[in-house]
Amino acid sequence: MARKAVTKAKATKTGPATKAAKPTIVKPIYVLNGPNLNLLGLREPEIYGSTSLSDIEKLVANHAKKQGVNVLCLQSNHEGDLVTWIQEARTMAAGLIINAAAYSHTSIAIHDALAMLDIPAVEVHISNVHKREEFRHYSYVSSVVSGVILGLGVKGYTLALDAILADLSK
Ligand code: DQA
Repeated sequence: MARKAVTKAKATKTGPATKAAKPTIVKPIYVLNGPNLNLLGLREPEIYGSTSLSDIEKLVANHAKKQGVNVLCLQSNHEGDLVTWIQEARTMAAGLIINAAAYSHTSIAIHDALAMLDIPAVEVHISNVHKREEFRHYSYVSSVVSGVILGLGVKGYTLALDAILADLSK
């Protein structure tokens, strides 16, 4: 019987083989925010805190920049805008963070658009929706994203970015 050829990876004299260079992420990470999130800071601060949406966007952009990545932050009160941006993300984005706000609990259109994505996508909610009214307990988004972060305040956005970057560097 012929012996199988076995190829062994060579370790260098200085130690194990060097780590492969991190792939550069050229496309931006889309950060989409849905209805009423434009009023963060003013809106029910006892639930959502006092940070404005533009402060959140700066926070995420700075966090991304430190890791050599760009973000594109978009907000709309209109369901169709969110659907269009999710569709656009299919070819234009490396990953996607979405807080679809109230549309999370109602929108099959957003669910369907997200189902077509094959980039890492993370759903964020600032509040813990499971501690709130029952109509907030179901999300049409959760079943079509890579993961969900909720109830951790605005930190959820940077945690989502870290999760996406970890996923992309796998
Ligand atoms: C929210 C939770 C939703 O139930 C609500 O409609 C929002 C914000 C959050 O970030 O906690 O608008 O998505």
